[in-house]
Amino acid sequence: MTDAVDPRRRLAPVVRLAPAKVNLTLAVLGTRPDGYHDLHSVMVPLALADRLSVSVLPPGAPDSLHVAGFDPGPVADNLVLRAIGAARQAAREVGYGPEAPPALAARLEKRIPVAAGLAGGSSDAAAAADAALEAWGVELGPEARHALAAKLGSDVPFFLAGGPALVEGRGERLTPLGWLRGAADHPDGPGLLLVTPAVALSTPAVFRAWDAGARVAGGAARMASAHLADELRRGIGLADLMARGSVLAAANDLAPAAVAVEPALVPFKRALLRLLKRPVGLSGSGPTLWALYASLDEAAEAADRLHEAVTSGTLAWPGPNPPFIAATTILAPAPRREP
Ligand code: C5P
Repeated sequence: MTDAVDPRRRLAPVVRLAPAKVNLTLAVLGTRPDGYHDLHSVMVPLALADRLSVSVLPPGAPDSLHVAGFDPGPVADNLVLRAIGAARQAAREVGYGPEAPPALAARLEKRIPVAAGLAGGSSDAAAAADAALEAWGVELGPEARHALAAKLGSDVPFFLAGGPALVEGRGERLTPLGWLRGAADHPDGPGLLLVTPAVALSTPAVFRAWDAGARVAGGAARMASAHLADELRRGIGLADLMARGSVLAAANDLAPAAVAVEPALVPFKRALLRLLKRPVGLSGSGPTLWALYASLDEAAEAADRLHEAVTSGTLAWPGPNPPFIAATTILAPAPRREP
């Protein structure tokens, strides 16, 4: 029997990779009447990803979640379970049938650090909704998928785009962007070095600090963001992207607010600048710091140097544990499927 025969009885788990993201630019344009903030951000998905699998459970069982790897906190609060619940609701709204779609057992391997500014939880939610719909054999139109994602969190719709995107509004307005000209010539580039210090940084607290005035005037991040979005729309060469490194690293309007909440980021970033000798940016509301490299090999070499510096005590880190250090690549947009 193949599992295409009756999706409601499928035995094979549905597996999804849930990529991390970084914000290459992040401009905060203002506070909205709903308390959220209007953004203008170029976001890119990364090869670094969580792995999620879901399997249909026998009747009578509740949805369950088992997590390995980084600890995302209480399972009952996990967005994966909320995403499965919201997907079930959406499935019923498109006429799934008289019974609710069956319960699912989800397994999540967390390889993306938690509360890091890498949107791992949001990506897990997007992957869980998508995997649940496939496990139940339910097709949702693009609008219903988007509404489902937006309901789960501001960063979730981005993961539907499947590649670099300009993200506006609260996070719900998405414009897919092109990527590197001649990307086929750079299968492992650009590389990205990620460094996540083990300090808790709450996104609402960082936005509150921005509201309270921890910000820079001038609109440089907005200009850099619009410029990069234009360039990616047209297609930019790897050398030109690398040449933007210092402008992009500075183009995060949440950086002063993140530092106001966690002052230890300042000496830590300074130490990284000294060791890496290249621009270092902040992803989202932090605390992950990133540096762009022409290839994965170069990023991996830099990661090795940082590991050594941590081991030898040359790099002092904030928090109770050493930082998470990883070399990864930026994912090019998935090829569009033929209709
Ligand atoms: O939408 P999500 O629950 O992921 O957002 C987490 C928090 O980040 C919100 O509670 C809000 O404080 C802040 N946020 C914001 N403006 C955005 C996105 C998030 O103020 N555009």
